[in-house]
Amino acid sequence: MGQPTNRVFSGVQPTGNLHLGNYLGAIRKFVALQDSHECIYCVVDLHAVTADLVQKDLQNQTREIAAAFIASGIDPKKHIVFNQSQVREHSELAWLFNCVARMGWLRRMTQFKEKAGKDSENASVGLFTYPNLMAADILTYRATHVPVGDDQKQHLELTRDIAAKFNNDFAERIAALGHGDSYFPLTEPVIEGEATRIMSLRDGSRKMSKSEPSDMSRINLTDSSDDIAKKIRKARTDPEPLPDNLDGLKERPEADNLVSIFAALSEVSSEEVLRQYGGKQFGEFKPALADLAVEKLAPINREMRRLMDDPAGVDAVLKEGAEKAREIASVTLSEVRDIFGFIG
Ligand code: TYM
Repeated sequence: MGQPTNRVFSGVQPTGNLHLGNYLGAIRKFVALQDSHECIYCVVDLHAVTADLVQKDLQNQTREIAAAFIASGIDPKKHIVFNQSQVREHSELAWLFNCVARMGWLRRMTQFKEKAGKDSENASVGLFTYPNLMAADILTYRATHVPVGDDQKQHLELTRDIAAKFNNDFAERIAALGHGDSYFPLTEPVIEGEATRIMSLRDGSRKMSKSEPSDMSRINLTDSSDDIAKKIRKARTDPEPLPDNLDGLKERPEADNLVSIFAALSEVSSEEVLRQYGGKQFGEFKPALADLAVEKLAPINREMRRLMDDPAGVDAVLKEGAEKAREIASVTLSEVRDIFGFIG
């Protein structure tokens, strides 16, 4: 079997508080890629236990991400939607990648440093090797494209380094077993558009994040329309009116963020938003942004609720997706075992 040429893989962690950054930076792109690519979208529950071992309600959090995928427009009949822990091959390949990746590569990962904080001696080993599992997620399917937000860029570079080292170190066996001159693709990140890095509504220097204690810092996909409007009304801004060009947004991170969100939600450029709102006060811009956010998010929110009312239905989608995923994953792992030279 040759390598696939247009296969997309991406994942979202079921750690609660799925937010607008996840939607605009990732999930909405997942939806767009469905027409042109074979897509595999995964709720990465094994990753969810790397930071906090005990998750309060992992099953419902997992269902919520699957529901968000489907409510946003991903079609689980045409593509694959599943949760990671149901497909054991991810863990097996992650182990093998623990032996491919080098300590120095992982030590450079900024997300580990951020998440582990000052007390890195007390972080789980899983948090440290997290990027190897992520590489395994992608390469189990030999995916060629991975849509993500900007914060995952370094992890995708590591995925390419792992693929390249594997291809290089096993070059002779890969060729001898009939796989040509490389087995794993050098996966392309898909990080583009206005919303690759949505910032907190309370502090324009920090990323909008699931783990930020203040709920006012983010718009959750489960927020009611009233909550969305309230959070935008209370979003931090400066006292100046909006500028009429992009240069005027420099040094104004909060204004820049709200303009980017408006642009992404309305699918136009930030320049276009400034053409319309340049010179206007936030008193006028914020209500327009709130209306737009509610208009775009309320239907997703409604559909998520409807899906979540039938947990067994969501579980059935995940089970069926896992079966389809396993068909691909089992072939890859059997070939990889051969390349390593294991018996059986
Ligand atoms: P996670 O669950 O933190 O985030 C899911 C997706 O949302 C993007 N994202 C953002 N985009 C724009 N602005 C933001 N403020 C923002 N916050 C998050 C993330 O970049 C991501 O695309 N490691 C991954 C999950 C993962 C994965 C994978 C992704 C595991 N295996 C394989 C791709 C391929 C993560 O923590 O995502």
